[in-house]
Amino acid sequence: MTRATHILGIETSCDETAAAVIRRGADGEGAILSNVVLSQLKDHAPYGGVVPEIAARAHVNHLDRLIAQAMREAGLSYDELDGIAATAGPGLLGGVIVGLTMAKAIALATGKPLIAVNHLEGHALTARLLQKVDFPYLLLLISGGHTQFQIVEGVGTYHRLGTTIDDALGEAFDKVAKLLGLGYPGGPQVEARARQGDPARFDFPRPLKGRKDCNFSFSGLKTAVREVVTGLGTLTDQDVADVCASFEAAVAETMADRLRMAVHLFRASHPEVQRPALIVAGGVAANRKLKDVFEQAAALHGLSLIVPPPRLCTDNAAMIAWAGAERLALGLTDDLGVAARARWPLDQAQAPVYGSGKLGAKA
Ligand code: KG4
Ligand code: ZN
Repeated sequence: MTRATHILGIETSCDETAAAVIRRGADGEGAILSNVVLSQLKDHAPYGGVVPEIAARAHVNHLDRLIAQAMREAGLSYDELDGIAATAGPGLLGGVIVGLTMAKAIALATGKPLIAVNHLEGHALTARLLQKVDFPYLLLLISGGHTQFQIVEGVGTYHRLGTTIDDALGEAFDKVAKLLGLGYPGGPQVEARARQGDPARFDFPRPLKGRKDCNFSFSGLKTAVREVVTGLGTLTDQDVADVCASFEAAVAETMADRLRMAVHLFRASHPEVQRPALIVAGGVAANRKLKDVFEQAAALHGLSLIVPPPRLCTDNAAMIAWAGAERLALGLTDDLGVAARARWPLDQAQAPVYGSGKLGAKA
């Protein structure tokens, strides 16, 4: 496509209700015209995690207002849009249905094409909204629901190098926070407490370290934390800080090891790429200690590191609109019968990993 396009994006797959409008220029450069995100954090905090029914209901209550706001801030009429993109999965099915149905209704009423976007593709392509990044590149996605390495070969073409065989990394942070009686979401709380802690006090396991693949496992680490916490009985503030710091140290060392493997596998499959880009996305990418690990790995392995700013790393609709624009540019649109999907791996050819359950990989 040789002209600029404007896309409305809708994101409702988890606990953020979001709408955004982006512009994709004729040369493929991106611009965010509006990006509205309503976090449901307060609604779920009392339960220590996301409650699917509460999430779906909140999406229904707020989505139309947020879309109107996104359109107003972008200063565009529906006539000026070139497509309507919405997350069609993977995610909490009730929420995905809310957003996708809204997108279908707008597409039907305006006669504009519908683009059903894989939420993970939104994360995977965000870097290209911000700057010129050529395919192929290496993606590390670390969020509350996903922990995986992908080679992004092109729009719609992914090769998964590794994933978690049990918990997602953000989930592990959240569970450790819960064990310590810290609030939800746990990642930022664990990070803050860790700053005052001794990372060497507890020798937590480094899961799968040294293995010749790029998979992750965090449930054993979480169990080790639970045993220490139970053993300590009543926790002082210093105990909490030391557990957090020791947990972060175990995660950081594991991540450095897995990254080394991922780069090795990337280079083996793409020896022609001199300086591969490493894109880190997802809420956990905000963690300072892990950012240090990524920066050191980038220097060590000759990578161009790109960590999008937090508001584009965590769930948002600009990334969905952008993925929609990239797909539309290739003529990839969907008909109004397209279904919402709770599970939808980016790499369709991927083998299920051990522990991923009979419904397929969770992350
Ligand atoms: O990408 P995200 O906003 O939502 C999805 O899961 O899709 O990621 C949220 C996750 C939560 O598990 C949260 O605890 C974690 O990211 N997180 C962090 C930090 N900030 C958010 N984990 C570690 N350190 C942080 N600073
Ligand atoms: Zn996400």
